[in-house]
Amino acid sequence: MCLASSTTSAGASGPSWVLVVAAVLVSGLLLAGPALRRHYPVAWWLLLGFPVAAFRVMQTWRPLMAGCGLAVSRRPALTVVSGLVGNGAPPPQPRVPRRGLIRPTSGGFVLLVRLLPGQVPEDVVKAAPAMAESWQVHAVRVTSWKPGVVRIVASASDPLAALRTPKQRGPGHLLRVAVGVLETGAAWVVDLRGVPHWLIVGATRSGKSTLINALVAGLAPQHIALVGIDCKGGMELSLYEPRLSALATNREQAVRLLAALVNLTLDRMSVCRAARVRNVWGLPEKARPVPVVVIVDEIAELFLVASRSEKDEAQAAGTALIRLAQLGAALGVFLVVAGQRVGSDLGPGVTALRAQLGGRVCHRVADPGTAEMALGDLNPDALKAAQAITPEQAGTAVLASGDGWERARSHLITEAEAEAVATEYAHLTPVLSELHVEAP
Ligand SMILES: Nc1ncnc2c1ncn2[C@@H]1O[C@H](COP(=O)(O)OP(=O)(O)OP(=O)(O)O)[C@@H](O)[C@H]1O
Ligand SMILES: [Mg+2]
Repeated sequence: MCLASSTTSAGASGPSWVLVVAAVLVSGLLLAGPALRRHYPVAWWLLLGFPVAAFRVMQTWRPLMAGCGLAVSRRPALTVVSGLVGNGAPPPQPRVPRRGLIRPTSGGFVLLVRLLPGQVPEDVVKAAPAMAESWQVHAVRVTSWKPGVVRIVASASDPLAALRTPKQRGPGHLLRVAVGVLETGAAWVVDLRGVPHWLIVGATRSGKSTLINALVAGLAPQHIALVGIDCKGGMELSLYEPRLSALATNREQAVRLLAALVNLTLDRMSVCRAARVRNVWGLPEKARPVPVVVIVDEIAELFLVASRSEKDEAQAAGTALIRLAQLGAALGVFLVVAGQRVGSDLGPGVTALRAQLGGRVCHRVADPGTAEMALGDLNPDALKAAQAITPEQAGTAVLASGDGWERARSHLITEAEAEAVATEYAHLTPVLSELHVEAP
């Protein structure tokens, strides 16, 4: 008896202690919330923000799905019969897509959702703004995950709103550079071995050169060659001249340099063929030629023509670029092409070149044609997102590749910083004598 009563009293005091401790913890967290949020946003999100958001998702899921037309009534015939029988049971609730576990990320959360028969991912995509509204988060992105399942990614706040400076210093992985931050808060990594050729578009002062600064600052410490083609008279790329193995500052030089690059690529092809390997990565490390990253800032300067002789030059430059893009990836030659306007009015070569540039970055654009050219063969939502970028959001871009699209913002690397990095690593500049093309 005595034992029983003591056990009972221990059992009663146990949960009450837990409640007290929990209450103290929660009130402590609530009091410290604003400071925690300011100084440790990720901890704040995981401890306070996420539980509240997850609760909201659970509370609103069913009405939200019904309100967005994603609920399906359950066997209507049976409902009628049960109504006739009049057993008082409420009619069965309509079915809604089944929600998986809500998992936190560093700045939001993610969940998988199983669609009902007859539903397609686009139906849920349309509901994304309503979800963001109900869950009080900055944005909700819906993507197909596998047949019948979509992935919902919510970001609590806009991680692109804050200016970022890079964390990466030193060489890092070969041909991989963290150039900014994605909307999810993850690093935006340009990996040239994964996607070898890139097209960067955007209106003037939208952030193209700043992105190139970030890329150059990350590539300069690596054992690679950088080659510049800047037909704006070298205004953009001459900053990095100490780290460039070659620089063309007008179209005539660009044509010669591109022809030399094509020859270098063909030479590498012979080397690979002789060694019976399919690409330069198959060669032994000692025999492997240095990777070459060719940066073209303002592609329109190469293609726009005023006279007959310029037309021939433009055509030659376009053909060489297309050849480089076709052959280059396997032979260690990579292209990064930037331009304000990349419309078909620049000539048929531009469209053919675009097809070869698999990585696309679209900053704020002045004309819908350029966004269409950069992203049009992808999701129409990507186009809308690019057109929604405002001048105040310089550096913000929509990235697209074969797998989909996302928003990102480059690190703010100023010209002075890029110049300093180029000078610091000037000693790593490989001498590629075959690219030193003098005027005839
Ligand atoms: N990622 C960024 N974060 C913050 N500010 C940025 C960012 N990128 C660009 N900016 C701002 O926008 C300005 C213009 O950027 P940038 O020179 O890169 O534009 P651009 O697209 O190369 O323009 P242009 O076509 O005229 O050469 C920069 O000086 C900087 O103030
Ligand atoms: Mg620029």
